[in-house]
Amino acid sequence: MLDDAKSTAVLAGKHLVLGVTGSIAAYKAVGVLRALRDQGATVSVLMTEGATKFMTPLTFEVLSGRRVVTNLFDGHETMPHLTLAEDADAVLVAPATAHFLAKAALGLADDVLSTMLLNVQCPVIVAPAMDGEMWTHPTVIQHVEILRARGVVVLDPEVGPLASGRVAQGRLSAETTVLEAIHTAVFRQADWRGQRVLVSAGPTQEPLDPVRFLSNRSSGKMGYAIAEAVRARGGEVVLVTGPSALIPPSRVTTVHVNTASEMADALSQHFPSCTVLIMAAAVADFRPPMAASGKLKKQGRSEIEIALEATPDILAMLSARRTSQIVVGFAAETEQVLSHAKDKLVGKGLDLIVANDVTQAGGGFGSDDNAAVILSARGEQRVFGLMPKRRLADEILNAVRDLCLMVPRGESLVE
Ligand code: C5P
Repeated sequence: MLDDAKSTAVLAGKHLVLGVTGSIAAYKAVGVLRALRDQGATVSVLMTEGATKFMTPLTFEVLSGRRVVTNLFDGHETMPHLTLAEDADAVLVAPATAHFLAKAALGLADDVLSTMLLNVQCPVIVAPAMDGEMWTHPTVIQHVEILRARGVVVLDPEVGPLASGRVAQGRLSAETTVLEAIHTAVFRQADWRGQRVLVSAGPTQEPLDPVRFLSNRSSGKMGYAIAEAVRARGGEVVLVTGPSALIPPSRVTTVHVNTASEMADALSQHFPSCTVLIMAAAVADFRPPMAASGKLKKQGRSEIEIALEATPDILAMLSARRTSQIVVGFAAETEQVLSHAKDKLVGKGLDLIVANDVTQAGGGFGSDDNAAVILSARGEQRVFGLMPKRRLADEILNAVRDLCLMVPRGESLVE
């Protein structure tokens, strides 16, 4: 794709903002800038004070053909942090220092780059570069997690020799990786625009008494990744989530619930105004009919019996109520994955089902990765090996887009 992209000026008409921060890898930003210009993009460069210690603004000014902004108050343009943010198709920060990651994660705004980031609506891609010890420091890891949860694409630095002489993970991503991330962001940005997507995520908790509940191992990672992917591709999201330790992605309407019944209520309320339902939650199939009013005591008991009743199947219920919505379910299975998934696809009247084997090593509950097969009601099948849940989220959205959204079914969903 990159070779084609180069020769066809694929970024013509696109305006990118390149933020350069104070890492020794700042000199590599020159190569990135040249490649972006070769592909036809207009590039505005912002430099932090640290970056200007490594490279002169003049270098970037000559290569970009535009004034380089280094200071919020330089007097050449009023409020560059607002004007640049408004018409950018993507912001790239390369290299990004640990200091920059911390400021961006916390929303500090003490220079033009960090202030602008609080104003942007477009995709933001960050390519960190630092010493290996710094990249693996818990604070840096936490800041990267916060940024990713907000939809920022943080590229993992590469392993290799660093300025310190050590060999570790910390080198700025290769130019091709950075450019590919830009292409993905710029061209995928809009393909879900106009869609309002209802996503369920996480487990439910069904109370036994005031202190105990029945639940499952779902972390919410798959559903949150889907919510993030829809936002990154221009769609609106209502995320209905059971208890999860994750931070909901930014610019997503989030509804927190505990029980299957609360999840059913929240989803029923939002379903009529949505165009797509993606039901990634691991809803309890059974619950105690009524929670005990006081804590169940163990005194004098050698065993206890708990009666359970079936919960409503939310997905089947909403699927039966749909007007023109696309409905996508999940099938977390431990055996005969495909045949159980097909039964659910048909039984619940779904358009697509994402089947995964939760016993597979490296995937399933709590893991950052997943392997899955996506089946459609029309018999198509897409098989995906173990990959990060965020990437699988994009594949699920591709499948919905290709198999459902582009085909007229009653009322067209495509703008
Ligand atoms: O039948 P099973 O629970 O395995 O089906 C899984 C799919 O059904 C998932 O998409 C899950 O979110 C959904 N589900 C539901 N209501 C339930 C149980 C599961 O919507 N009570």
